[in-house]
Amino acid sequence: MSGNINRQILLVEKPSGKLGPEHFKMVENAVPEPKDGEALLRVRYISLDAANRAWMHGATYRSAVEANSVMAGGAIAEVVSSKAPELAAGDIVFGDTGWQEYAAVPAKHLTKMPKLEPMTHLLSVFGIAGLTAYFGLLEIGKPKEGETVVVSAAAGSVGSLVGQIAKIKGCLVIGIAGGADKCNWLTSELGFDAAVDYKDGAVFKALRAAAAKGIDVYFDNVGGDILEACLPQMNNYGRIACCGAVSQYDGAPAAHGRAACPA
Ligand SMILES: NC(=O)c1ccc[n+]([C@@H]2O[C@H](COP(=O)([O-])OP(=O)(O)OC[C@H]3O[C@@H](n4cnc5c(N)ncnc54)[C@H](OP(=O)(O)O)[C@@H]3O)[C@@H](O)[C@H]2O)c1
Repeated sequence: MSGNINRQILLVEKPSGKLGPEHFKMVENAVPEPKDGEALLRVRYISLDAANRAWMHGATYRSAVEANSVMAGGAIAEVVSSKAPELAAGDIVFGDTGWQEYAAVPAKHLTKMPKLEPMTHLLSVFGIAGLTAYFGLLEIGKPKEGETVVVSAAAGSVGSLVGQIAKIKGCLVIGIAGGADKCNWLTSELGFDAAVDYKDGAVFKALRAAAAKGIDVYFDNVGGDILEACLPQMNNYGRIACCGAVSQYDGAPAAHGRAACPA
């Protein structure tokens, strides 16, 4: 904080195509005063997620972000002062503070977090990405030992965790990612059984070779052409976790007129 100034990033215009810096503006306002039941938070780390882009399209699992408002976003924050009995100065919490340095947020919308280092783990493996991967794979995908699991955006924050959880469950795991470096990382460091570089083209053929027994679980982070390549390779009683459609967020036409999945 510099004095009593709160720097905030506003979404000034909803993008209809590619998102760029011109859609945002930084403003300075006074640090807010917490009301009864609220805590004043100093934001430590903001989670910048692909899902943020989807929130600009309209309501998803949360309401849409409107133009000329503080850009929404989950963050790890420290309680500066509290008018809620369950929180005290120094507590570490997770909540939707938005992209700003300070926020006054009702305690009922905050989750108290353990103090651990690095604190960024609270936003990644123990945060939304970890929860999305864990519950999306285990509750929707329901992978069984020996089954074939395919995940797209596999080198991303959600996909990289999905693949590692699927390996723990004893599955054959194939990741789809862009570029040789990311594909090598998946197989050499994260333990994926195979990786398909979608930027090489021929995703359908490469998947057919890697998933010789067909796909039992597809964890879909991207939608579009990659989803189209997976659909005909799904086994009977296969499961698809429709997590997001990042290939569609910047205004790409939905493949075959299909609507993009909300993230
Ligand atoms: N993070 C969350 O907490 C969360 C929660 C709910 C839902 N989701 C959804 O989960 C998905 C993944 O999120 P994330 O946070 O893991 O994202 P991320 O870490 O930002 O990774 C996104 C990756 O998607 C790939 N990608 C982008 N455009 C693509 C395209 N046209 N075709 C194929 N791949 C493309 C890129 O990887 P390459 O370099 O490999 O192309 C990019 O790095 C998104 O759809 C998001 O909306 C995320």
